Amino acid sequence: MNLRIKHLLGLENVPQEDINTILDTAFSFREVLERPIKKVPTLKGVTVVNLFFENSTRTRISFELAEKRLSADTINFSASSSSLTKGESLRDTIQNLFAMKMDVVVMRHPTPGSVKLLSQFVDAVVINAGDGTHEHPTQALLDMMSMKEKLGSLEGVNVAIIGDIRHSRVALSNIFGLKTMGANVLLCGPPTFMPYDVVSLGVKVTYNLDEALQFADVINVLRIQKERQGKGLIPSMREYRNVYGITQQRLSKLKRPLTIMHPGPINRGVEIDTDVADSEHSIILHQVLNGVAVRMSILFLLAGGR
Ligand code: CP
Repeated sequence: MNLRIKHLLGLENVPQEDINTILDTAFSFREVLERPIKKVPTLKGVTVVNLFFENSTRTRISFELAEKRLSADTINFSASSSSLTKGESLRDTIQNLFAMKMDVVVMRHPTPGSVKLLSQFVDAVVINAGDGTHEHPTQALLDMMSMKEKLGSLEGVNVAIIGDIRHSRVALSNIFGLKTMGANVLLCGPPTFMPYDVVSLGVKVTYNLDEALQFADVINVLRIQKERQGKGLIPSMREYRNVYGITQQRLSKLKRPLTIMHPGPINRGVEIDTDVADSEHSIILHQVLNGVAVRMSILFLLAGGR
């Protein structure tokens, strides 16, 4: 059950065999999460430090829970209460932490590429929990696990990723992972939300939401990232909802159900309406549960658990 990768920095170059191993192992850990005692001794003696330089609910708590479920020792680092506020450099902060013998680091940071840089100067397993607008590989893995759970396979599945693609690390990791697994990916959103180099991603693109819905078995609806917007990319949130918002009225025109996904946090009434997000076809909360199992799987496989 060895992986070819030594760190999880992104999904761009992760082979299909590794993704299959991670997902299969995650399904085994899902069973542990259904037990009355949801804990195994697999990572006893392994120390994991969670470095979050950006806000997070799902990813941070999910990693912490996964580490506890595997019996690892967990350290939570908060940038706002650290010596970074006294002017210490990130490199010094991290080298001091690692002088205390950490085995695994999970990092979320607003700068694309920061996690790769970290992997070059620490002697530990590095896991990307989201680096700016670059990648969020564990989110894409939990998304793929949730699609596989619902549909049985990823091969040939039509996935439409809808919304703010340009600012979305979730979209990029999903594109890389889904392509590797043989799914068909279509991106949909306003032209101002498409990456400049969208052609190089090798996926279909449409600016027409109804066309995307016609194509899709699954829609993965992205959050409008208010904190990363430049000025004037969309006229207003109201206009965005009118043209690209996922509403029950729009879906009912299809006469067949779509699987509804969203990585969270949701802007209800903007990119997706509440009755769609909470409908019987939504697997949004399954994604959250699968997030714990996927993170257990990655920690186990990369940190050499038994
Ligand atoms: N999906 C996701 O990354 O959510 P958080 O920002 O809450 O971690």
